[in-house]
Amino acid sequence: MKRIIFPLDVSQKNDAIDFVKLLKDEVEIFKIGLELFCKYGPEILNDISKLNVKIFLDLKLHDIPNTVYGAVKNLLNFNPFFITIHLEEYEKFRKFVFDKTNFKGFLGVTWLTSLDENSLHFLTENKNMSVIDFVLKKAEIYYKSGCCGIVCSAHEAKKVKEKFGNKLKIVCPGIRLSESSSDDQERIMTPEKAIKNGADFLVIGRPIREANDPLGICRKINAEINENLG
Ligand code: C5P
Repeated sequence: MKRIIFPLDVSQKNDAIDFVKLLKDEVEIFKIGLELFCKYGPEILNDISKLNVKIFLDLKLHDIPNTVYGAVKNLLNFNPFFITIHLEEYEKFRKFVFDKTNFKGFLGVTWLTSLDENSLHFLTENKNMSVIDFVLKKAEIYYKSGCCGIVCSAHEAKKVKEKFGNKLKIVCPGIRLSESSSDDQERIMTPEKAIKNGADFLVIGRPIREANDPLGICRKINAEINENLG
């Protein structure tokens, strides 16, 4: 199994299809997010799944259980591999969403990798709250709800792995080939370190998409990952 998840963060359907065709041998899962989905709707899911690849639907669903259930029921017609969700509690969601849909591919969003600890202090009005404590709390909610995994930065992956072992898949965005990258991501890490920290999947967008040779970069990252997996 490969570990790269490639986000199709492009505005044109044809560009997304071209990336899937180019990278499908080196990428495990293709992520469709808000940009493409808001432009093309579910039609984009049909077009990408025709290319026989796994789809990660990153719509970060966040609403009352009954509304999320209605949305998920419709999305399951397109056979996604993962769907992202935000939860603050687990009992109602387990009962009204997870048990009713019986879908096993929910990933819980913990703390966006574009946010740092200051944003968490501002939100919670608690200067003692650390990102790792917050992520572990959210991970517990996601585990108890029936999610198969969580999305977190590779900086938290190690502690999550220590606490949950293989009970939760760890999906890490904020991956950069060098630690000095400066875009909107805050808590970044290289693929090598992220895998050593226990990440199961790496979401890598711009470092691949903006490279002169996206396929070559994917091959290089896969080789590096395999080395670190021993
Ligand atoms: O281009 P880049 O590698 O930063 O892309 C990261 C992708 O992962 C984007 O599609 C972004 O929406 C997504 N993501 C993230 N942080 C999260 C969850 C998802 O960056 N916590």
